[in-house]
Amino acid sequence: MEIHIAADAEAGARTVADVVEQTLRETGELGTVLGLATGDSPVPAYTELIRRHREEGLSFAGSRAFLLDEYVGLPAGHDQSYHRFIREQLTSHVDIDDAAVLSPDGAAADPVAEAAAYDRRIGEAGGVDLQILGIGSNGHIAFNEPGSSLVSRTRVVALTPRTIEDNSRYFESPDEVPVRALTQGLGTILEARRIVLTASGEGKAAAVARLVEGSVSARWPATILQMHPEVLVVVDEAAASQLELADYYRYARDLEVEHAVAGQRV
Ligand code: PGA
Repeated sequence: MEIHIAADAEAGARTVADVVEQTLRETGELGTVLGLATGDSPVPAYTELIRRHREEGLSFAGSRAFLLDEYVGLPAGHDQSYHRFIREQLTSHVDIDDAAVLSPDGAAADPVAEAAAYDRRIGEAGGVDLQILGIGSNGHIAFNEPGSSLVSRTRVVALTPRTIEDNSRYFESPDEVPVRALTQGLGTILEARRIVLTASGEGKAAAVARLVEGSVSARWPATILQMHPEVLVVVDEAAASQLELADYYRYARDLEVEHAVAGQRV
């Protein structure tokens, strides 16, 4: 796991956007399969990617995208659906084909069958090249709440009261937040070739400390990312404030930058 403590939100967003840009360029004409997260955390990076598309010609042509999750009961066009969120925050502003932006169907008559079909679709697309993640204050990634199996697949889950409370800011009242969701499982997410997780603010500090330095456990589902070979964690100072080894991560990052400047591999 590589930890990058960014000076501010803009610097963190640029780092996440750099990884997306690099992946898009590496996959080239084959087309990248992106894994996209919703929520506030990745929005600054999405804004930076839109800017690069408009001003620097960064192209998403030929790419496909899979969302992590969707609320059960919200049809795609609903104001608060993640299907809609990602279009408003990223995909409608860049040159990715709208039909290539997929999310679990929250209005499916059989959500259990929809979950299994969605998991299959990701595999059929060749798997995700780069997965972008946020983290919940309770340590969830996607909607894998505490207690999730570390090898879980895409499935229907019950949201915790804490998640419902955290997400109620998007709704008129907490009563309107759906209580169930379709989510990629931890095992599904772990199959992505590369992962970048971003978090900011003090409210995420405890979850980030567990993610990076805690024991791998279903109690803090994000800790399973310690078992993935290529994870970059991009956090601001506030989200990094409970990391015991923060100074070491800063030192290691500086050293890496120094070597990169000198043209050496680290
Ligand atoms: P946030 O949500 O980015 O809106 O903080 C993250 C999450 O709950 O996974």
